[in-house]
Amino acid sequence: MKIGIDKIGFYAPHLYVDMNKLAVRRNVEPEKFTIGIGQEKMAVPPITQDSVTLAANAALEVLDENDKEAIDFVIFGTETGIDNSKSAAVYVHHLLGLNPHARTVEVKHACYGATAAIQMAKGHIALNPESKVLVLASDIARYGLNSSGEATQGAGAVGMVISADPAILALEDKSAYLADDVMDFWRPVYSDKALVDGKLSNEKYISFFAKVWEQYKEKTGRELKDFEAITFHLPYTKMGKKALKPVLEETTEDVQERLKANYQISTEYNRNVGNIYTGSLYLSLLSLLEQKEDLEAGARIGMFSYGSGAVGEFFTGILQDGYREHLKIKEHDELFASRKEVSVDEYEAIFEETLPTDGSSIELDVNSDPAQIYLAGVTDHMRRYVNKEK
Ligand code: COA
Repeated sequence: MKIGIDKIGFYAPHLYVDMNKLAVRRNVEPEKFTIGIGQEKMAVPPITQDSVTLAANAALEVLDENDKEAIDFVIFGTETGIDNSKSAAVYVHHLLGLNPHARTVEVKHACYGATAAIQMAKGHIALNPESKVLVLASDIARYGLNSSGEATQGAGAVGMVISADPAILALEDKSAYLADDVMDFWRPVYSDKALVDGKLSNEKYISFFAKVWEQYKEKTGRELKDFEAITFHLPYTKMGKKALKPVLEETTEDVQERLKANYQISTEYNRNVGNIYTGSLYLSLLSLLEQKEDLEAGARIGMFSYGSGAVGEFFTGILQDGYREHLKIKEHDELFASRKEVSVDEYEAIFEETLPTDGSSIELDVNSDPAQIYLAGVTDHMRRYVNKEK
């Protein structure tokens, strides 16, 4: 039985800051951000968007009435959840009006959460071929104003329907994975900003990719030439390039050129959104599928998932006949085109605006948020979400 990605939706907040302007304000050369790190625009989430609303808006784009009935498992991958106990998945389940006979759960392992969710979903579908699973990958990356990680922030979500006989990408069975207890990036429960050892996280990312790639080759006998493209978790778009480069020496120049060109296309959306943590790999996959018009059905795509702390996994999928008809290319063009630029001052003010942490209530000004699903306020320690169309 084929199991894989049947639908894939995406949402990013409607605001962004230009990385050239941020660089000038931070007294660094713009090329450091645009070339050295590889980011052009960074999504800025208004206070009315959190990981729940971003995920719900992403899933909203792709679900039809049949999906809503068939989905009996919602798995929410995030490292910026809004509650230490209640799962973010159950909020989305309610906001989207899904079948009540469903399981809802949140999973966490830094940027690896959604990959764990996909692997769980595969098992569920193998046992229940009529079911569908909604996998959500949603985060707001916050390192802090003037911090070394600031240029690698961002916000957004990807929502995927995993099913039997998928319309877009059939996932193959063999994958390679690795875990090691590393302090390269973490966020203590008392902090709303991540702590990071940037250099260590880069080193670990590169070495995890090299190790899982070796294990994958041993397990499958495949080589780089068997891949049309390899997509990466992209905390910033230079990162995957650093990991891919040493491995490329194993193959011919033709294959190197193909993988490098396709890597570049796979970074397009991420370059304009920033880091969305657990959704970043899937945003990169989406960028490749939507922006490369001549990718043929039958092509094998590699995916490298990395979650600091750390877990890495390399897994693969085969593009299905007619997959392009199931993508939301026009909608995503519109999403990018309709975003509004904010100045660095406005970005800083939005960044500093946070929800109360002392239990007091708040009503948010929701008029400027064009999203269908948003956070309207907090009352009695409870977030109040609104789906305008429900
Ligand atoms: N023109 C072109 N490139 C420039 C440049 C310029 N004017 N100035 C600097 N650069 C390059 C550097 O050479 C470097 O390239 P390299 O990585 O290929 O060597 C790159 O820009 C980044 O410069 P660096 O001095 O290393 O940046 P930094 O100390 O500010 O840290 C991160 C960058 C990514 C480590 C930091 O933003 C961070 O910690 N981010 C969060 C963690 C993260 O994303 N980790 C990834 C793994 S999950």
